[in-house]
Amino acid sequence: MKMFWSKIRSALMLGWALLCCWLVLGFATSCSNPTSSSTLPSVVTESTKNPLTDLTTAAAAGKTLYAVNCSLCHGDDGKSGDDSLLAKPPDLTSGKVAADADGAIFLAIKNGVKKDGKQTMPPTRKVSDEEIWQMVAYVRALAK
Ligand code: HEC
Repeated sequence: MKMFWSKIRSALMLGWALLCCWLVLGFATSCSNPTSSSTLPSVVTESTKNPLTDLTTAAAAGKTLYAVNCSLCHGDDGKSGDDSLLAKPPDLTSGKVAADADGAIFLAIKNGVKKDGKQTMPPTRKVSDEEIWQMVAYVRALAK
């Protein structure tokens, strides 16, 4: 019986040790990553500026994401939109979009675009907020 309880106790101790390790590691990794989602704004408006600090690195990551999520409709260069869609995709490198603030582009990617009650651009699925900001950085880089 004594053996039994000491086994239970060591199993519990091990459990606590593992839980503590997990918590400490979790904190350490979220603190060491400067652009982790916890530092991104939870509310984005049209005038929100891109919160990522290293925009060159962000744009490089955004290039791959853009190729997967956007170029189909907007073209690799952001200028040559697909004509067969419900609305013509605008040139992302000049005019209205170039004049838009970062937040407006973020919201277009996140929620899509509606015109006259019709979803003319679909919301982008399966991307994190950080990835969306990376694509915003890339759209900005395209316009240069
Ligand atoms: C299925 C096609 C499609 C995909 C995919 C798509 N777009 Fe669009 N996008 C459009 C169309 C069409 C419009 C024009 C909508 C309108 O004017 O009603 C548009 C508009 C926009 C605008 C202007 C929004 C505004 O407020 O006028 C931006 C910025 C934009 N897209 C960026 C992107 C980015 C970045 C991606 C990738 C994450 C993307 N789009 C993916 C079709 C697409």
